[in-house]
Amino acid sequence: MAAEGYRELFDERGGSYDDAMARWPEARAEELAFVVRLAEVRAGERVLDLPAGGGYLGDLLPAGASVTAVEPSAAFAERSRARGLEVVASSLDGEALPDGEADVLVSIAGIHHEPDHAALLRGWRRVLAPGGRLVLADVAAGSAPARFLDGFVGAHNGHGHAGTYLGDELAEQAEACGYTEVRVIDGTYRWWAPSLEELAAFCAGLFGLRGVSVGEVAEALAEGPGVDHEDGRTGLRWGLRALVATSP
Ligand SMILES: C[S@@+](CC[C@H](N)C(=O)[O-])C[C@H]1O[C@@H](n2cnc3c(N)ncnc32)[C@H](O)[C@@H]1O
Repeated sequence: MAAEGYRELFDERGGSYDDAMARWPEARAEELAFVVRLAEVRAGERVLDLPAGGGYLGDLLPAGASVTAVEPSAAFAERSRARGLEVVASSLDGEALPDGEADVLVSIAGIHHEPDHAALLRGWRRVLAPGGRLVLADVAAGSAPARFLDGFVGAHNGHGHAGTYLGDELAEQAEACGYTEVRVIDGTYRWWAPSLEELAAFCAGLFGLRGVSVGEVAEALAEGPGVDHEDGRTGLRWGLRALVATSP
């Protein structure tokens, strides 16, 4: 699917994604904490959340940091605005943003829909202030989440799914785009819900699954990435690859 097609897809699907995030606000807490820890945001810093989806990062950053949600899809942007966030409508490369706008740019689970990662990395350098940090987290190539997204999700979301995931060349690619102090960290954690059934309902909403029962989704989660039952709740084994880098 072309990049433009993905923006339209999220215009159509953003509501169901955001409804799932609102109904199970703790489901991705470990994932967001993984990224927030790496970002090491300090009071007074200007942070861009790009693409922000419905603006899930806002409350997790230290008081005194200012967060701008940057979002290509109108459906998601409306959800962020409804949460009181400042939203800039822009393509994924941050084209609508002025030069040197950010001290920190955080990007979670957005760029696997965009084939030209180098173009994004270059665009983000332009919007980062000198010394600004990039924290990019997305699905790692060849990982269980990648197989699940391109397999079960693609078969049941009505549009197919073929992501451009983050490969072993990520650090080299960031350096070629002019970043320094480059680190790559593979995060492993879980998405939690009170039961397997609720975890499956969360995933069905998040991924826009159709024509498949909650029971079938639950079975696929257990077979695919795998699930754990702990302390009366159920966790999906998930993980993103993170790139942390400085724009000199
Ligand atoms: C899975 S959501 C992630 C949202 C949020 N960062 C989060 O972690 O929940 C994917 C995001 O990428 C954006 N997106 C991805 N590819 C896009 C493309 N090619 N054009 C426009 N928007 C795209 C969507 O609008 C959406 O905000």
